Amino acid sequence: MDIFRIKGPVRLSGSVTINSSKNASLPIMAASILAPGKSTLQLAPYLSDISVFSELLSQLGCQITRNNNGDINIDTSVIDTPVGEYEVVRRMRAGICILGPLLARCRTAQVSMPGGCAIGDRPVDIHLRGLRELGAKIHIENGYITAEAPHGLTGKEIFLGGPFGSTVLGTANILMAATLAKGKTLIESAACEPEIADLVNCLNKMGAKITGIGSPRLTIEGVQELHPFTYKVIPDRIEAGTFMVAAAITAGELQLKNCRLNDMMAIVDKLRNIGVIVEPANNGCIVARKKPIKTSDVTTQPYPGFPTDLQAQFMALLSLAEGNSIIIEKVFPDRFMHVAELNRMAANLRKEGPTVIISGVKKLIAAPVMASDLRASAALVLAALAAEGTTTIQRVYHIDRGYEKIEEKLNPLGAKITREKT
Ligand code: EPZ
Repeated sequence: MDIFRIKGPVRLSGSVTINSSKNASLPIMAASILAPGKSTLQLAPYLSDISVFSELLSQLGCQITRNNNGDINIDTSVIDTPVGEYEVVRRMRAGICILGPLLARCRTAQVSMPGGCAIGDRPVDIHLRGLRELGAKIHIENGYITAEAPHGLTGKEIFLGGPFGSTVLGTANILMAATLAKGKTLIESAACEPEIADLVNCLNKMGAKITGIGSPRLTIEGVQELHPFTYKVIPDRIEAGTFMVAAAITAGELQLKNCRLNDMMAIVDKLRNIGVIVEPANNGCIVARKKPIKTSDVTTQPYPGFPTDLQAQFMALLSLAEGNSIIIEKVFPDRFMHVAELNRMAANLRKEGPTVIISGVKKLIAAPVMASDLRASAALVLAALAAEGTTTIQRVYHIDRGYEKIEEKLNPLGAKITREKT
């Protein structure tokens, strides 16, 4: 149980390289199940979620190795146990997206229901609805989803919208299952996230026939077989967004390398509106703040709207704005575990249902705080960089799920973070 000790305030400067995307890597690791043989995920980030996904694939019978250069080799020649165990899936919800590929390849699959999550209710009803539409027989028993399709899956027109709009991993599951189904599948209200477009790109490289990339309507012509991939995923736009906020909250100046502004227009728009400079630069951008932070109203939405995975980080930033701001969380209405912790650091936040009213304060003050989930913990690190004094953050393992050794990236930029084992 590592903790962070973070001295503030600091002003960040220098350049940082963004990693490959966690949320593109995980479904693409699942896609390897669709094609017996050796697939390679190039330059995969060193994150605990990636290790847990590798463990999940090994349990199915896959052979996983990692090269020194960071490539992960996934040999799916043998899948003898199409079962996603509770002990693994409970640690990483994305494990659910092996369900579609296993069903398509093995015509049977058993995957643990993901269970509770700190960011709120996260049902998988839409995943199951979509797979049933493709002809799967599905029942839930002892906390496990059992799915059967002895004669294979059959293409269908499927509306995949839900109460909060599209579902990212739900789209991934149905998309992957449909690649080996008989006939044509049309997914309406598909997620348009860049991570889904990246998955489609990879699947088409494996021999799939998918059109409508990046749009809410995907058409999949089922094929007989797919072949293994060698693939490098897109840069991590959420990691990039987190470092953009780091530059802004410390009134610093950072060059971000390996980041695609084109995937980040909603966050860049908001940053510029509050007075932060974001300029394109070769293979990335320059982010700097030289003026006081202006207020803003933010509503999270599915892509291309403002990403819920940057809501907490942006709240930490707006807590230092000159005046009142509002954040409305429309994707995970209960995703506010960071609010009480930021208030412990002298922020002035008031939660009203899915809305937080942010009354800007002159400064944040260091305090002992507790990380609760991946992005909330990133927000606490950012707040600590700007806060007066030494902040201690417990349960740092949350941040290791999505940021590779974040202190080793931030300290060369001027941060003062120590990781301590407790
Ligand atoms: C993905 O989760 C991401 N995870 C999340 O990032 C991200 O917050 C989320 O998309 C939204 O952008 C990965 O890619 C591994 P959803 P996912 O299904 O697919 C409801 C991070 O920090 N819903 O798009 O699980 C759901 O409850 C993580 O990296 C249903 O009602 O999210 C939510 O309110 C956290 N029924 C909304 O849809 C369903 O069957 C969107 O969830 C599925 C979802």
